[in-house]
Amino acid sequence: MAGFGSVFMPEMTIARYDGEQWSPSEFVPSDKLEFHPGAHGLHYASSVFEGLKAFKHADGTIKLFRMDRNLARLVKSSNLLSLPPIDIAATEQMIIEVVKKFAEQTPEPPGSMYIRPTHIGTDAIIGAAASPSQTSCLFILLSPVGNYFSGEAGTLRLLIEENGMRCAPHMGMIKSGGNYASALGPILQAKQTYNADQILFCPNGDVQETGAANFLLIDGNEVITKDLDSTFLHGVTRDSLLTLASDMGMVVTERSLSVDELLQRVANPACEAALSGTAAVLTPVGTLIRDGQEYTVGNGLEGPATRKLRQALNDIQWGKVEDNHGWLTSI
Ligand code: PLP
Ligand code: COI
Repeated sequence: MAGFGSVFMPEMTIARYDGEQWSPSEFVPSDKLEFHPGAHGLHYASSVFEGLKAFKHADGTIKLFRMDRNLARLVKSSNLLSLPPIDIAATEQMIIEVVKKFAEQTPEPPGSMYIRPTHIGTDAIIGAAASPSQTSCLFILLSPVGNYFSGEAGTLRLLIEENGMRCAPHMGMIKSGGNYASALGPILQAKQTYNADQILFCPNGDVQETGAANFLLIDGNEVITKDLDSTFLHGVTRDSLLTLASDMGMVVTERSLSVDELLQRVANPACEAALSGTAAVLTPVGTLIRDGQEYTVGNGLEGPATRKLRQALNDIQWGKVEDNHGWLTSI
């Protein structure tokens, strides 16, 4: 299968904000986008995005997973970068319209239609480094996807990084391209030097998240993950898995976790660790690398709790069990 996010549906919905109001949404070809080369978003990174999925159920219906959460985060991201205000109801309609149009092309589980709402500042004033863009454009791009991490049976290798950070700490909770760009150098180096799949960013020894997913430690009946603050992305998948863990009677602990405690705990053969995210779903971590030394997580393989939690999430997404939390939207 083609790489995650490399295939697109031929059209997308788009709306533009002219400084006072949003234009009606329209369908346009998805292979080009016109901007002035001086657009604010291109120079000063006033650009935010979201990632959510639509799933095809056995009865042929298409369901969106937790769209309200992703749109709330798009609003937060747009506000933090001083972009024009998002109209939530209109954006929901833009998503529904385009997903409906390409319903037939939504892959069967375990595949899905990945939805990428993107909001970019379009003012053409390169002198406006210290002032916000008054105009913007919002589009909804679709990409049919399979797994983000290749080799489903495999586990990930994470390099523990305690000195640097993924992005500016007051910007970690927004989904903005600049955050990913700032993490790229260290990630490439980690791949090259340690054959690591990802970096687990742990500024000053505090276990935070990786470049594209949240981190969960699963020790026996307890799930431990960092409590929410401004420094990292408040994952919708993280929230969903913590809710499901709690439903199953597991203990959910949201608190700071030090690298020392993490490495101590993973030495226990029953301990598990995993990355959670819309793209990552819940992918097991087999190895942690600190200062050149490798630490196997549990027995190094995917553990039963990781499998059970991912299954519980997939069962809801794929319509195999009742959606008791009201996470699915019909289109
Ligand atoms: N952290 C980062 C940096 C991400 O890019 C993602 C992916 O979206 C996540 C966490 C997980 O967030 P979510 O579960 O909302 O997809
Ligand atoms: C997502 O999980 O939606 C993401 O944004 C991760 C992305 C880097 C593919």
